Amino acid sequence: MTITREAFAKVNLYLHVCGRRDNGYHELDSLIVFAQTGDILSFEEAEDITLEVSGPMAPFLDGEPADNLVLKAAHGLRALSGLEKGARITLDKRLPVAAGIGGGSGDGAAALKGLCELWQIFPDPMGLEELALSLGADVPICMKAHANHVAGIGEKITPLPPLPDCWMVLVNPMVAVSTPAVFKARTAEFSPAAPMGGEYGFEGFIEALKERQNDLMAPAMEIAPEIKPVLEAISAQPACRLSRMSGSGATCFGLFEHEEAAKEALDQLKSIQPSWWVSLGKII
Ligand code: C5P
Repeated sequence: MTITREAFAKVNLYLHVCGRRDNGYHELDSLIVFAQTGDILSFEEAEDITLEVSGPMAPFLDGEPADNLVLKAAHGLRALSGLEKGARITLDKRLPVAAGIGGGSGDGAAALKGLCELWQIFPDPMGLEELALSLGADVPICMKAHANHVAGIGEKITPLPPLPDCWMVLVNPMVAVSTPAVFKARTAEFSPAAPMGGEYGFEGFIEALKERQNDLMAPAMEIAPEIKPVLEAISAQPACRLSRMSGSGATCFGLFEHEEAAKEALDQLKSIQPSWWVSLGKII
């Protein structure tokens, strides 16, 4: 049996930094959605746990293979289940690395879910949530893989009323940005966001997002000046209704009401700078 899972791009439509804990992690207030474009993972039964990585972004994965969140997730899940299971895992790495769109976290979450299915194990939900959070602050929301409000360091997840249909174009200048470095460079006051409640139409949704911001955008732009021309190019697209950076960057997004307009923007943005990574997905 082979199980296939897609790990979609995680996007912070807004991200307010509200405080800092003693362990250095920051309290956040964020609306997180997923754009339907991402990495693809497959899982097959095997003696040992192994990982093969391929795809356009594979060459950018530095560090030891054992540090990959997919392997950490697999070993963590095996320990949690207490079973001697193995799996041959493949990862088609399509999302840019260290890019503010939860590539590694999404892969880790997809591994937890894919391996539960492959191994036919049903861990206690609390234990699984703890394991997810121990892998990284964004892994719990990536387990949900659809729009939610996120607080705490990433563990307080609240479902939202359905969002309006919305298309997203993502652009990354192919510059890796270190999340700890961006948090460290942030000097502004902590800024809790007003809660975003109710069900929105497209226009109301955009207006509500415009009242909020990404507090990590200014420090990320200091570290990576390449972000500015990306944002300018996205906001210059005629049908783009909001442009902003996701997470700690450098990926930025544009929101569009209609798929056709988003596709036109995708083509335009690809032609402006062929070295940029550009992708498109409906938000969920
Ligand atoms: O949990 P994760 O390994 O993804 O976090 C990477 C780094 O990002 C942390 O070491 C921390 O510096 C920063 N971070 C933070 N507050 C959060 C999430 C991440 O300060 N809520």
